[in-house]
Amino acid sequence: MNVLKRCIYGISIISIASMNVQCKGDKKVEETTTEAKATEVVTIEKSAYGTTPKGEKIDSYKLKNQKGMEVDIITYGGIISSLKVPNKAGKSEEVVIGFNSLDQYMKANPYFGALIGRYGNRIAKGKFTLDGKQYSLAINNDPNALHGGPEGFHRVVWTAEEAKGGDSASLKLKYVSKDMEEGYPGNLTVFVTYTLNNDNSLDVLYEATTDKKTVVNLTQHSYFNLSSDFSKPILDHEITIDSDKLVPVDATLIPTGELTDVTNTPFDFRKAKAVGAAIGAKDDQLKKGLGYDHCWVLNNQDKGYRFAASAYDAGSGRLLEVYTDQPGIQFYSGNFLDGTLPMRNGGTYAHRTGFCLETQHYPDSPNQKDFPSTILNPGENYKTKTSFKFSVK
Ligand code: GLA
Repeated sequence: MNVLKRCIYGISIISIASMNVQCKGDKKVEETTTEAKATEVVTIEKSAYGTTPKGEKIDSYKLKNQKGMEVDIITYGGIISSLKVPNKAGKSEEVVIGFNSLDQYMKANPYFGALIGRYGNRIAKGKFTLDGKQYSLAINNDPNALHGGPEGFHRVVWTAEEAKGGDSASLKLKYVSKDMEEGYPGNLTVFVTYTLNNDNSLDVLYEATTDKKTVVNLTQHSYFNLSSDFSKPILDHEITIDSDKLVPVDATLIPTGELTDVTNTPFDFRKAKAVGAAIGAKDDQLKKGLGYDHCWVLNNQDKGYRFAASAYDAGSGRLLEVYTDQPGIQFYSGNFLDGTLPMRNGGTYAHRTGFCLETQHYPDSPNQKDFPSTILNPGENYKTKTSFKFSVK
């Protein structure tokens, strides 16, 4: 490193600590490196979260930036157990549904904050065929398989590694799903890296490799309520989805195989529209989903990573923008929340008090020859990125 570069480096990282910077030699660089640690832009703190009945230790990691955003991730299910972002007055508050104990996360719940795999959403009748061999999965959403099975990736323990650098900090989670675990072929090594940036975005990078042909469709199942008032439904949140087409479903929420135009339907979110604006409309698809519980075909798939959807809550001023390289997004309006699960500080999560924006391939792709493929072969790398970016307006 030449003296000029060294000097610039030194000034940029210690300017808060001292303006009296001298760039005379290697000794100074050593000192600045130590000081850089003290002024990390995004920090990670690890703490013990609990122990499973099998004796597995579960940790919690808090990633915190300097713009008022913090996210807590637990190694059980890779669950985002808390996500705080500022409102328009600059006050950081909770915006995701969650519990405050491992015991509660281990009880049945609709995937609060969890990582979903090996296959997000439904596979018809829990069956698919690869190279002439039929595979059978547990039917956990009668008559179909949902979200990777009863244990999936949401009820397993992930190992974690921290990484810091520049304007961000990351938590890299790893899970090895064994050959035939939950009925899926191939040992699948999965990495999910959560990165908190100092611009109030949270990136989720999914990577996987297999030793046998298999199917993979990973996603994240956080339920957002941008108002931070979890006693209120999300019906007045304004949603946009950059999509001209819907993946319509049958009565069991399996795609019919068609992709239909959203024009003049309650599924047209190309311009911002409140969740509640048309959710009560007489519409066959809304009836089947008991509200919104559908996959949209995202536009501009040839562009790769791009804007996909947004949600805005006028009261708090919070705006969430979702970016992805995935072909689809499942917008779920919390239709199955029924007031039975406890909120963190008393009360229960009532109908539609959170929504999900799950970036993914279309449901049941392994059985739909015209949908983009979800097959992963040995030697291939599954790699996909989604980002949740928060701001106020
Ligand atoms: C997904 C599914 C929904 C439901 C929720 C969790 O969004 O499509 O039908 O299973 O997860 O309950």
